[in-house]
Order: sequence, then C-alpha cells, then structure tokens
Amino acid sequence: MPTNLVNCWKNFIKVKMLSKRLQTLVNLISSGDFVAADIGTDHGLLPINLIKNKIVKKVYAVDINVKPLKIAEKNIQKHNFQKEIPTILSDGLAFTTQISDEIEYCFLAGLGSGTILEILNKDNDKIKNYLICSNTEIEQIRKFTIAKNYFIQYESFFIDQKHRYWLIWINKQKSAKKLENIFLGDFKWFEQNLEYKIYLENQIQFLEKIFLKIENDEDAKLKLFNKIKQMKEYVQLWN
Ligand SMILES: C[S@@+](CC[C@H](N)C(=O)[O-])C[C@H]1O[C@@H](n2cnc3c(N)ncnc32)[C@H](O)[C@@H]1O
Repeated sequence: MPTNLVNCWKNFIKVKMLSKRLQTLVNLISSGDFVAADIGTDHGLLPINLIKNKIVKKVYAVDINVKPLKIAEKNIQKHNFQKEIPTILSDGLAFTTQISDEIEYCFLAGLGSGTILEILNKDNDKIKNYLICSNTEIEQIRKFTIAKNYFIQYESFFIDQKHRYWLIWINKQKSAKKLENIFLGDFKWFEQNLEYKIYLENQIQFLEKIFLKIENDEDAKLKLFNKIKQMKEYVQLWN
C-alpha cells in the first residue's frame, strides 16, 4: 500500500477509535462554526476527532500537566491540525482570560466530580455549554447548575470498559425549569436506561450492608436510611 494511503488508514483508525464515553459526548453536539475547549485533554483525541469530522472549527486542547500536553501535541502534529487545535498549559478554565474566542462547547471528561467542580469555579461568560463526563456521582454538579440558574440539557449514565460514567450537559441559558431530583437526576433522562437502574440496585445493596454495620451514630444511620429510601423510591419508577 502506498505510504500516504497507509497514513490515511492510520488516521482513520485513530479518529474512529474514540472511547464510548468520548464518542457519546461528541454525538450530542451539532456541527457548526464553533470554538470548543477540551479541559484535561491528555492524548488530545477528542479535539482531533472534532476537527477531523468538521464538527467545530477550532478546539483549545488544555491540560494542567506538561507531559500529557506533549503527547497531545504529537498527536495533533500527526494530523497537521496545529492551527485548528492550539494546545494550552492551564489549570482548568484559567486560560479563558487570555483568549477572545467564545467557547460554545467546553468538554470535561475523564475527571472526577470534585476536580470538575473546582474547574467550574472559574466559570465565566465566555463559555456557553459544558459537556461533562464524570467518573463519579454528579449530585454536586447538579447543585452547581441550580445555584447558577443554568439548564440541564441532557443527562445519562453508562458503563464503558467496566467503569461507570455520569454524563451531564449544562446549557448556560438561564432557565426557569426546576430540577426535580438533585440527588439522582430527573427520571426523564433515565426512563430507558437500565444500566442506571442496575447501578442503583447494587448501590442500595451495598449501602444496606454499611447501614447494618453503623453503631452508636444515630445521625449517620438516619442520613443513610433516608438516602437508601430515596434510592428505593427512585428504582420503583421503572416498574
Ligand atoms: C484521565 S485524563 C482524561 C483524558 C481525556 N479527557 C479523556 O477523557 O480520555 C485526565 C487529564 O486531565 C488533566 N487534568 C487534571 N486536572 C486538570 C485541571 N485542573 N486542568 C486541566 N487539566 C487537568 C490531567 O493532567 C490528565 O491529562
């Protein structure tokens, strides 16, 4: 096979091989003349995919660490996308004070909700939407959304390679809509999602075992009892 065809095939494979969680995020957005940012870009595969598939016109590939950013730079160079994908060494959104672009889609993936919330502390008007895929439960991110009077455009939960992921799309248009369930998420997003049901059933079993082991701490017991009760009521919604 001629070299350029081999390279073409390699690029095709690389771009096609986004993980399920990153592909799920990408599938949510519509193509347009937009600027995006990928915070915690690591390998840079998400920005490369967005440019390669002409979904947006420019993506800031951002990481707090030099080593992953160098890997991202190498991958970006392989595709010759240096112009479309500027790499930036930055703690979360700190870099946004240095740019004039409006960021339509800000991706945060492969991080836990604690780190994501720290990053969201620097939320500002340059960002229009957050597309988040967290490794941990997102109750606090829902609280952030309510406190800011933003709008949850979509939520999901899924398992990818035996890991659990919570997906939340925060649209920063002001919203009068009330969030019905901050703890577990509005059921409308999960009606068809049996992975979430199974996850909650397993969590209930796990927490019930902990409940039985708690001694001499009535407050902790009551708190956990109420949590389990809410989860059981939620699971009933699937019946
Ligand atoms: C597990 S990787 C996730 C990579 C990619 N987003 C994904 O989902 O496959 C997490 C990356 O986030 C970076 N990171 C962690 N905290 C960060 C922060 N506050 N700002 C920017 N990058 C951060 C790490 O250096 C690392 O490269």
